[in-house]
Parts: sequence; structure tokens; C-alpha cells
Amino acid sequence: MEGFWVKGGECIRGSICVDSAKNAVLPILAAAILTQDAVHIEHCPGLMDVYAMESMLKMLGCACRWQGDELTIESSRLHNWEMPDAISKQIRSSIFLLGPILGRLRKATVTYPGGCEIGIRPIDLHLKGLRALGVRITDGEGILYCDGGAMHAGDVYLDYPSVGATENVMMAAALLKGTTYIHNAAREPEIEDLQRFINAMGGKIRGAGTQLIEIEGVPTLHGITYRPMPDRIVAGTLLCAAAITGGEVTLKHVCPRDLIPVEAKLTEMGCRMYDEENSVHLIAPKTLKSFSTLQTQPHPGFPTDMQAQMMAVSCLARGCGVIVENVFESRFAHVSDLNRMGARIRVNGRVAVIEGVRKLHGCRVCARDLRGGAALVLAGLAAEGETVIENARLIDRGYAALEKTLTELGGRIQRMTLKTDGGIT
Ligand code: EPZ
Repeated sequence: MEGFWVKGGECIRGSICVDSAKNAVLPILAAAILTQDAVHIEHCPGLMDVYAMESMLKMLGCACRWQGDELTIESSRLHNWEMPDAISKQIRSSIFLLGPILGRLRKATVTYPGGCEIGIRPIDLHLKGLRALGVRITDGEGILYCDGGAMHAGDVYLDYPSVGATENVMMAAALLKGTTYIHNAAREPEIEDLQRFINAMGGKIRGAGTQLIEIEGVPTLHGITYRPMPDRIVAGTLLCAAAITGGEVTLKHVCPRDLIPVEAKLTEMGCRMYDEENSVHLIAPKTLKSFSTLQTQPHPGFPTDMQAQMMAVSCLARGCGVIVENVFESRFAHVSDLNRMGARIRVNGRVAVIEGVRKLHGCRVCARDLRGGAALVLAGLAAEGETVIENARLIDRGYAALEKTLTELGGRIQRMTLKTDGGIT
């Protein structure tokens, strides 16, 4: 198993360029099959989830090739509408292919994607949205047979502003004659990026970033070259790395507007933030003070994907902070390991109370989900002594070579192979 070794005590400081966003790239790669032309995705991040999406596209009959960090998808030979069972179960983001496969082939077979470490991750809203577009879906013991022969534009109401369900309906409706409306749509920046991408291919979508999205179907879409938006969660994680180590960092190729909730909370903790057009600069205080309360919400609320990282920072802040995780039902898996490092966190359901401590101490911990793992790396950077974080591959799902990025910013972190007996090779 791969892990990270971290030696605490160094300040994270310096300047770095942030990669394109995982949560924008995944739906964009899926949407690429809406055209038979070649689609070139520039600055595509080398993430495990991106490679997994690439392998799913290949299984559907697409040609995919890398040239440096540009990934080209060519789907003229797309013929397979069945998502392999193993893949659907293993890779949750396979669900993003449902809408585009239906949009292109008018039929699809997918297995219910499994839940994951942070929740059961149902897809009822995806299915309700597609059924509102006339897709006939039958559930054959966990396998969904989708018939889009009678698909039509229509009104979709989402009971909850689900990011994935909003994106699936946008992609399913892009080639549907007529106008489709998504009411109570998710408003995340990644939705706006998907709209920009589909419109660059010749689509006619308006309203992304608001609760009402209008999709005017077009007969065909054409190939393009596209650079996805910067990763606001990677950016927020690096800001937290500087904050927790008393450092100073400049992040380039970021969109400050996407970081407003995170910057607001870090400012509350005593960090000084300076925004420019495509960069943000953070100067950490000598001593952090805790935010009073942090509630995760759908955008423009505080992003759930930054909850764990902010919890790590608050462990070393003066005072007591309360975090309420409103989006996912089990997203506190990192608490036990943070407490093993000396943090004082109590959890009751979706509420965590963090009593700041003067120091954390390094020890062997385990990443249990992507963002919780990143939080443990942050804690290791600030802890006294050495920390080993097991399950680095889980963190690789959302951070490309995190150890290289943090080393470039002055951190002491290495990737290593861990022996099952607890030893290190
Ligand atoms: C996207 O997941 C992101 N993933 C997640 O990032 C992110 O945490 C989440 O949006 C919320 O912002 C990608 O974009 C690839 P949702 P998604 O549908 O689309 C419930 C990360 O760390 N729900 O908005 O799955 C669901 O259970 C990942 O990068 C239903 O009940 O999120 C959850 O409680 C983690 N029925 C809530 O909605 C449905 O049909 C939010 O889910 C769909 C969702």
C-alpha cells in the first residue's frame, strides 16, 4: 500500500499554479461523447478519477490519447451503451456517463453505482430527472435499463440541488429538440463550466450558476479544444496548508470568485487574503483563532469538499469551533485520526465540536476518504514529529502528486510503500 510520510514543522510558503478541476473535468469528459468530432481537453489533471473516466470512455468505444497534459477524446466509433458492472460499481463518476450516452445513443444500461466512504450516494434525483425527459428506466436487480427512444424536452424539478443530477440532465437534454428547464438546479461553478464547454461545442444552455437552467436542444455539437476551470478544492486545500503551518502562499490560475466561502472562513481565523484577477495570496497569522460555526451547504454555501481540511486547520486554532456537515451523512471519518494526533474533537451526528489545542503530534493514520485524507496530510505538516498517512491512492483520486506540490512549497513529505506489518520500505 502506498502512503505519505510527513515531517511537521515547516511553513508552507511560495507560489504555485493550480490544476484544472477534477469535478469539472469528469462531467466534461463524459459530455465529450455528445459529438462525433475530436474533443481536446487542455491542462487535464493526472488524477486517478480522470484515468478511470478515460478507461470507461474506451470501454464505450471511444478513442482517447494523451499528448502531454492534453487529453483527446474521439467518439465517432461510440457503439457500446452498456457500462460494465465492475466499472459502474467501482467508479462512482460512471454515473455522469448516463446522460450523455442517452443523449447520443438514446439507450443505456448502467449498474447502480455503489455508495462510498462519505455516504450512500443515491441516484434517485438523476433518474427522476431523466424520467421527466421521457426516459423509460426499469430496474433489473441493480441494473438500470434505460430506453430513451421517446425522449423529449421538458421541465425537470430537482427536490435537492444535486450537482450530478443537474449535470446529467444538462447533458441528456443538449441534443433534445425543444427547450428543457431544470428547476432548483445546483449552482456550483463546475456546472457553469459544463455549460461553457457544451456551448463552446455549439450548445445553447443558459442559467448555469442560478437555480433555473434552460437547455435549448440543438441537432449536433462539434469538436473543440477546451481548458476546464481551476480546481477550487485543491486551491482551498493549499490555502489551508499555508494557514495551518503559519506560512504564506500565492496560488496562480485560480478563480477568486470560486473561493469566496473558503476565504471568508480563513479570514475569520485571522488569515490575510489578497485577491487578484487569477490569483489569491494568503498570509497566515502567528496564532489562528477559531471560526465560530462552519455549515456545509450547496453552492454558494461553504463547500462540503473543504470541510475536512478546515477541520484540520481549526484543530490548532485558539477557541472552539463548530462544524455542521449538512450535505453528506458520514463525512467525519477523519475525526478519529485527527484525535489520535492530539486534536480534541467531539462528534454528535452531523455536528463536530473542535476545541483548539496548542499542538498536534505525528503518528500513523489512515486516509478513509479523499478529502479526509488531505486533511490528515495538512495536520501532519503542522504536527510535531513524523506522520505516516496510509492509503495515499485515495488522495491521488483528487490531488495530482500532492507530495510534489507540497514539497515545492517547502513541506517535508514523501510518498512511500508501506508494508502490511506496519513497516516502511
Ligand atoms: C459532486 O458529487 C462532487 N463530485 C462531490 O465531490 C461533491 O462533494 C458534491 O458534488 C457536492 O458538492 C463530482 O462532481 C465528481 P450531489 P455529487 O449529487 O454530484 C444527495 C469530491 O470530494 N443525492 O450534489 O454526487 C447525496 O446523497 C467529491 O471531490 C440524493 O439524495 O453530489 C448528497 O447527500 C465528493 N439523490 C447530496 O445529495 C441523488 O440522486 C449532494 O449530492 C443525488 C444526490
